[in-house]
Parts: sequence; structure tokens; C-alpha cells
Amino acid sequence: MAKVLIVYYSRTGNTESMAKAIAKALTEENLDVGCKKVEDVGSDELLEVDGLIIGSPTYYGTMAAEIKKFLDDSVKHHGKLDGKVGAAFASAASTGQETTIFSILEALLIHGMIVQGDPKGHHYGVTSTGKPSEQVLERCRRFGQRFATLVKQITSK
Ligand SMILES: Cc1cc2nc3c(=O)[nH]c(=O)nc-3n(C[C@H](O)[C@H](O)[C@H](O)COP(=O)(O)O)c2cc1C
Repeated sequence: MAKVLIVYYSRTGNTESMAKAIAKALTEENLDVGCKKVEDVGSDELLEVDGLIIGSPTYYGTMAAEIKKFLDDSVKHHGKLDGKVGAAFASAASTGQETTIFSILEALLIHGMIVQGDPKGHHYGVTSTGKPSEQVLERCRRFGQRFATLVKQITSK
């Protein structure tokens, strides 16, 4: 069974709600899913998964420092995450979600990870403004389903 890890930081619960909705969608797609706060994840866990999804609140237009530290610590495994599937999601009070997503995707791409856009949903990764609405949670579901499909394709080769 393909293994996916969702790593997120959340102070007031918005990013966490998104992480849980994405985790539910991935579980329903029969993947082995871990959904963890960034403070509870060690970078060695990245070696064990086929897919990695990272979520962050928007802090001044970019990822939270806690997520940045996690990514910086992942340099320990530079070169070993090549070919795994990656994705990012973000919340904000008003704007900046997409620059936050891109700040995370930059690191995932440098690791050699495979990132899929979405021609119909949120193009770069799912986003929320404030508390995730039912519509956003539905978008999280779509995001998780698409990620699961890609992980299955990659791991079946
Ligand atoms: C230090 C800090 C910086 C923030 N910067 C932004 C920002 O640039 N744009 C914005 O829309 N919201 C900003 N916010 C609001 C958060 O991104 C927003 O409340 C988010 O949904 C919080 O996610 P959480 O509930 O998962 O902690 C900021 C909040 C903090 C604490």
C-alpha cells in the first residue's frame, strides 16, 4: 500500500482542518496516511513515504517559520526524495496563499519531487481564506483524490 505523509503547522486550526479533510480523502483512496503536526515529524520519516503534502498558514506571504525549518532540516536527505510525489496547501486571513504554496513547492521541486497542478480546482494547491468553508473542504477532498491517483500511478511502475 502506498504511503503518504501530510505535515502541517497550524496555530488557530484552519490549516489543521484542511489537513484532516485531505487525510480523509487519501484514506478513502486506500492509501496508508499519516497526518502530523510539523513539530511531531522528524525528517527521517520522509524516507519512508511515497508522497508528501505540506500545509502552512500564510505568514507575511510565505510559509510559517516552523515549516521552513522542517524543510531546511530535510537537507539531511537531499537526493533521496527524488521522484516522490509532492504537494502543498495553505490558508490565510485574506491573501498570499499562492505565494505560500509556491514557497513550499520550491523546496519540494529542489528535492526532485513530482508536483501536479490542477486545471479545474485550485491550480497550485488547495487554499482557504480563514476557516475552511464547506466548499473549501470539498476542494480538499478533490486535492486528496488527485494526489492519491498520482501516487498510485507512480508507485505501480
Ligand atoms: C505572523 C502572522 C503573519 C500573517 N500573515 C498573513 C498574511 O500575510 N496574509 C494573510 O492573509 N494572513 C496572514 N496571517 C493570518 C493567517 O495566515 C491566517 O489566520 C491563517 O488562516 C492561520 O492558519 P491556522 O489557523 O492554521 O493557524 C498571518 C498570521 C500571523 C500570526
